[in-house]
Amino acid sequence: MKTNGYGRALPPILRAGETAESWPERRAELMTLLREQVYGFSPEETPVVTVESEEEKPCFAGKANLGRVVLRVQFGEKSFFFPVRYAFPKAKRPAPVFVVLNFRPDVPDLYLPAEEILDGGFGFAQICYTDVVNDRYHGDFSDGLGKAYYEGRARRPDEWGKIGMWAYAASRAIDWLYTREEADRAHIMVIGHSRLGKTALYAGMSDERIWATFVNDSGAGGASIARHKETGETIHDIAKNGLWDWFADNYRRWENREAEMPFDMHFAVAMIAPRLVCVGSAEEDAWAEPEGECLSCRAASEVWELLGRRGLEMPDRAAVSGESFLTGSVGYQMRSGTHFLSRTDWQKYMEFARIHINEET
Ligand code: GCU
Repeated sequence: MKTNGYGRALPPILRAGETAESWPERRAELMTLLREQVYGFSPEETPVVTVESEEEKPCFAGKANLGRVVLRVQFGEKSFFFPVRYAFPKAKRPAPVFVVLNFRPDVPDLYLPAEEILDGGFGFAQICYTDVVNDRYHGDFSDGLGKAYYEGRARRPDEWGKIGMWAYAASRAIDWLYTREEADRAHIMVIGHSRLGKTALYAGMSDERIWATFVNDSGAGGASIARHKETGETIHDIAKNGLWDWFADNYRRWENREAEMPFDMHFAVAMIAPRLVCVGSAEEDAWAEPEGECLSCRAASEVWELLGRRGLEMPDRAAVSGESFLTGSVGYQMRSGTHFLSRTDWQKYMEFARIHINEET
């Protein structure tokens, strides 16, 4: 029985003789591969973001203002809109901000300990994912950005799915954050859990303005290695359950053929280099396969090292519940319990952000 992911031969990220100088070319090639085969291509038109409405009120005992802004996004002839709920701590200096991809609009929420985040000196801008496009599975692109983009035609096999759309909305929220003086542009972060962990990963890969990416319990199609799995979700499960619309249609081609893929999900993690990424697993979350999530971080680290940064700094063994390894540019933490974005996860991610902010000063 394998216990720590060793023995799972992975395709190499780096070519023979790869250097820091040749990496941008390799990265571009791999971004294209991952878009074509996993996440799909997004529209090329330059998006234009305008504020349609805005409201703000004091909250959390006056420590912050809680706001809701509706953003309209125009790309080419098409447009869609979605709300963002946000709060910035009242402070003299701009605050680092988490762009939170969430399942519900509520603030605070089960997955968003809002006051604790503000007390930590961070702001947040939350997107409720179904405000961008529904998540009814089986290729329903009948509303929001899905409708704006696909109305009246079928999707090509290499075009984006819903993960691409949700990540695109995160980037448009960042466009808007750039107009807010309360937000520290140099420290914009993105966070998501589960399918939205997959989305956070793709947002971090795609948008180089993102300083740190937090990928919680993202599993298959997220940080977890797809090939040679003994437990957890497979591409077959994704296809069978109708979740293929999160991805490019091409992704289904790898069903039961994972070992033939010319890539695996450590490539996705590596696309974030040299920026920061922290992956989280939960001990009892066998469906997401913690071992594969950690293995991705370990295997992707060689890219940070090539670029003169520190990759994952953890001992050469499997992680134990309760452990976190936050000092390298690639972080990993393993929480006890089940599939969830908990307060404990948030505390680890805020600690990771603090460690790396302090390193800069
Ligand atoms: C399902 C799905 C996972 C996904 C999860 C979620 O379990 O199979 O891939 O991560 O839902 O988003 O909660």
